[in-house]
Amino acid sequence: MKGLILSGGKGTRLRPLTHTSAKQLIPIANKPVLFYAVEAMVDAGIKDIGIIVGETKDEIEEAVGDGSTWGAKIKYILQEEPRGLAHAVLVAKDYLDGEPFVMFLGDNLIKGGIVDFVAEFRKEKPNALILLTPVKNPSEFGVAELIDGRVVRLEEKPKEPKSNLALVGVYIFDKNIMKAASSIKPSLRDELEITDAIQHLIDSGLQVKPHIVKGWWKDTGKLEDILEANRILLEGIEPEIIGKVDEKSKIFGRVRIEKGAEIINSNIRGPAVIGENTKIIDSYIGPFTSVYYNVSITKSEIEHSIILENSTLLEIGSRLEDSLIGKDVTVYKVHTKPKAYKLMLGDHSLVGII
Ligand code: TTP
Repeated sequence: MKGLILSGGKGTRLRPLTHTSAKQLIPIANKPVLFYAVEAMVDAGIKDIGIIVGETKDEIEEAVGDGSTWGAKIKYILQEEPRGLAHAVLVAKDYLDGEPFVMFLGDNLIKGGIVDFVAEFRKEKPNALILLTPVKNPSEFGVAELIDGRVVRLEEKPKEPKSNLALVGVYIFDKNIMKAASSIKPSLRDELEITDAIQHLIDSGLQVKPHIVKGWWKDTGKLEDILEANRILLEGIEPEIIGKVDEKSKIFGRVRIEKGAEIINSNIRGPAVIGENTKIIDSYIGPFTSVYYNVSITKSEIEHSIILENSTLLEIGSRLEDSLIGKDVTVYKVHTKPKAYKLMLGDHSLVGII
């Protein structure tokens, strides 16, 4: 069995970060989202993994490499344009070469991994096994209708959902998905939808079975979900202090301070993680915060946020919360007159001021 991780796409809901970077490389608890997908595959014994890439190809290849870090063999497959999840399957035809495969959306996280899911496919050998999870608001998801343990219909964002079982971004298919994906037409948003391809399998009399997910699952395609995934993963980190903490600083609860980090005259209240070579000076870092590497935070207070590499926060007057700060960003207090906000923001930025 092979693996196929989808890491192309447009990422419109995460602009402006996705104007310059891949959303699949946003770190959650200081590890890129995509790495969790690779680990889930390897844990389930899948070592041949194809990664679908688009315009952020170079950045993804550089971060993930050839897979040897995980004992896997990773190949990159270019999707020239993000024309839908079923289109990505078609693009991977030669790589998959008729083998069954696990398809994993590169911005999705599944706490319990996919070991049981893969084992069920190997045992039952349906034509497709789809991961489902009960949700409170099914009208916001792709929803599956089940009869006698089989999936009989899939509906995208139904007004009157037939069940509370939403499609999670992980599927296992046998070779029949290729024909189904090439038989469907683009949807109203002009994409080849994987739900239409699966419906085509059902309508052709093939066996599509459900597998209900037990642990939590998150699609990290938008800000609130990234922060929530960060919160949940931080709750499970192993506390460890490798970097330096001076005698004036206090560390409370689950906190990981990575190599080369320095905490000077500051309070860190976990769960939180401070990345390699990051400096926290005269500051407060509150619960559910992940600070990535080479960041400098001075005279500032932050909670429930993610700060990416090489950024600087200097003397922020109020506490920063619920924020995702990109790479190489500077936020600083202006001492010169007139007293005014001075901004240089990229297209589609979002700034809440008080
Ligand atoms: P989505 O989050 O559904 O789509 P998107 O990345 O275009 O984002 P947005 O809706 O905010 O514009 O995609 C799920 C995953 O699949 C994600 O990792 C990107 C990937 N993908 C592809 O690789 N190829 C594609 O054609 C599409 C649509 C998505």
